Amino acid sequence: MEIKMNLTKTPKEKPDQSKLGFGKFFTDHMFIMDWDSENGWHDARIEPFGPLVLHPAATVFHYGAEIFEGLKAYRRPDGDVQLFRPWENIKRLNNSAERLSLPQVDEEFTLDALKKFVALEKDWVPSEPGTSLYLRPFLFGNDETLGVHTIHHAKFVIIASPVGAYYAEGLNPVKIMIETQDVRAVRGGTGYTKCGGNYAASMRAGDRAAAEGYSQVLWLDGVERKYIEEVGAMNVMFLINGVVVTPALTGSILPGITRKSCIELLREMGYKVEERLLSVEELSAALRDGTLEEAWGCGTAAVISPIGELRMGQAHYQVADGGIGKLSQKLYDTLTSIQWGVAEDTHSWTCKV
Ligand code: PLP
Ligand code: COI
Repeated sequence: MEIKMNLTKTPKEKPDQSKLGFGKFFTDHMFIMDWDSENGWHDARIEPFGPLVLHPAATVFHYGAEIFEGLKAYRRPDGDVQLFRPWENIKRLNNSAERLSLPQVDEEFTLDALKKFVALEKDWVPSEPGTSLYLRPFLFGNDETLGVHTIHHAKFVIIASPVGAYYAEGLNPVKIMIETQDVRAVRGGTGYTKCGGNYAASMRAGDRAAAEGYSQVLWLDGVERKYIEEVGAMNVMFLINGVVVTPALTGSILPGITRKSCIELLREMGYKVEERLLSVEELSAALRDGTLEEAWGCGTAAVISPIGELRMGQAHYQVADGGIGKLSQKLYDTLTSIQWGVAEDTHSWTCKV
């Protein structure tokens, strides 16, 4: 399929790279394609960034038929721009689409479209340390009727935002609160997908945590409310007695691409990594007896985010000395040097645009 180009006549001024924050600025263009059950995907185009005009009955507004992805384009020291494991995001997008009965995309075409779009917006990829161009592909149901039925019309859009650190803390440790009232997902539900509804349902708990000075909540499993699952926008890992423990992919947590990459890197460093159930009791015992050496979250937006404090009910626990752990720092350095093209990519995880 050909991608039609309609370029802006009024390019925007680029923001100050030291004040990017996360998701506040957007590039000059967006990629769009449409789908309907008769014609499949069609009308792929890149057009000036701007509002989408949608019918008020569009499925996305009423029944939450929406999925998204998040990946980054990085500025290499030689000036080129590269993506990190983008094919994994496209595969996960299709897994999400399958769960929500939304149309799947052609993986090869979508990767090519992503690369063409980033190549066009290349000047928007920042170069300051810790910055990147965050790419947000999203796909939603767009039937103009209120019946709850199989989707017949959909739209796929990619927008891009130059970003700095996701958390205001940067690499400094964040404070995380274990959520005991709401649950995020259950097995058989949509927890393993990146659908908008998962995030909408998580905001109340996030607000409660924020009101008490915590960055995000740590979710427990939805059935027994006993096992650690993940944080609002990242997977979690714990260094307990020299062994890295991370919740297993049971169906209710997002299979993070950063998580998968960290597991590979940690094993290469010689660490034993256990993907298994980890109960709150086990974690609090490790906090109390000092065997919890480090805790961190990992995700595309969050990168590696050390956890300095965990709140469990009324108990506040400092993780080790509350600072950036040695392994968290090493993992951050190892991962980001591959992403930013500083170290050789021996895993074939990156691709230039
Ligand atoms: N878990 C949740 C709920 C997320 O939103 C994210 C971010 O995408 C992650 C985990 C980490 O996934 P990834 O490493 O693929 O970005
Ligand atoms: C990402 O890390 O890409 C995410 O999607 C997290 C997000 C919800 C900001």
